[in-house]
Amino acid sequence: MSKSGKDSLLINKIAAGILTAGIVFWCANRVASIMVPDEAPKKVAIAITGMQTAAAPAAAPAGPESIIPLIATADVSKGMAFVQQQCSACHSLNQGGAAGVGPNLYGVMGAAMFSNASFSYSDAAKGKAKGNWGYDSMGNWLADPSSFVPGTAMSYPGIKNTQTRADVVAYLRTLSASPIPLPTADEVKAASAPVASAATATTAAAAPAAGAAAAPAAAPSIDTMFATADIAKGEALVTQQCSACHSLNKGGASGVGPNLYGIVGAKMFSAAGFGYSDGAKAKAGATWTADAMSDWLKDPAAYVSGTMMGYPGIKNDQTRADVIAYLNKNSDSPIKLPGT
Ligand code: HEC
Ligand code: HEC
Repeated sequence: MSKSGKDSLLINKIAAGILTAGIVFWCANRVASIMVPDEAPKKVAIAITGMQTAAAPAAAPAGPESIIPLIATADVSKGMAFVQQQCSACHSLNQGGAAGVGPNLYGVMGAAMFSNASFSYSDAAKGKAKGNWGYDSMGNWLADPSSFVPGTAMSYPGIKNTQTRADVVAYLRTLSASPIPLPTADEVKAASAPVASAATATTAAAAPAAGAAAAPAAAPSIDTMFATADIAKGEALVTQQCSACHSLNKGGASGVGPNLYGIVGAKMFSAAGFGYSDGAKAKAGATWTADAMSDWLKDPAAYVSGTMMGYPGIKNDQTRADVIAYLNKNSDSPIKLPGT
């Protein structure tokens, strides 16, 4: 990308930031009038802070808890009351309802993200429009819209209470002629494992990925880079960017993502008891060669459409080689990497 291209992007971002801040303040007044009074100022303050410090993920608190374990017992009528009070000013809920400030929400659970043809989404949301709305993605989005989609046009501070979020999503699920299935026992088990937050990790990951966007499009094969890969650097990056979702020790429990011990050379997406996305399941059984791992880690959503791995990818080839070299070493039986 040219320098002036970056500058105008920056100007766009600043303009969007100012605009968003304006909308948030406008919204603060509006929402304050319809929201529970003691909660409104606090939530709006959090949303503004989040926007200004988006580039400093270290300051982010532990992110949203999974709602999956709570869905089956969630209170749908409480969720409905909450949505009518806090969301219906912007969203219609009836089948075929018109778009308002936000898109119609009938049938949104299970639908393609940010893809309602009768609504014009922000570029930020369009950029995030990969896969379909599931319990985790919807829970994370509603916990903190501007963390899930930095720059979103949805000026809503988020639902911080996990039970309330589960009630709301359980209600959204019923807005459909054929509601999506409730989470399976395996999904509940996986979501109940004690792990740090997915949203924090995603935020942390966003910075390097954005920086790497300037990398040349026609990147060389990383096969020549394994011989000189820096395993310690790879380990540091994995600890920082992946370990919130993945355990790395032998026999470690699944978290948001499956355990990664011995993953290089193993069968793809085949950890027993982990509830993979359908896209991942379609690839299950193939082998994680160095090249396959490189393609996946470069752009997970391109490699597995609809993947649940909320991670933008490692665009820098040398960094990816470092990470793969570390993952390969973290194994009882490392494979021979190309060029080594
Ligand atoms: C101030 C207006 C406003 C409020 C209040 C609001 N939203 Fe939104 N919502 C939007 C806008 C605008 C978008 C589109 C986001 C974008 O384009 O970045 C959106 C998008 C969404 C989406 C994505 C829909 C799709 O087509 O993929 C969902 C789901 C959603 N909102 C749910 C909610 C819920 C639930 C609440 C209440 C808890 C809520 N919203 C409150 C304005 C609002
Ligand atoms: C926000 C949580 C999250 C982060 C951060 C994350 N992952 Fe994942 N990862 C997942 C999920 C969820 C899956 C399962 C994908 C699916 O089912 O679509 C997955 C799958 C994988 C797999 C395939 C495992 C298998 O069983 O075949 C590998 C390899 C992987 N991740 C590596 C990484 C690495 C390396 C990083 C950091 C650079 C990372 N992940 C960051 C959530 C995450």
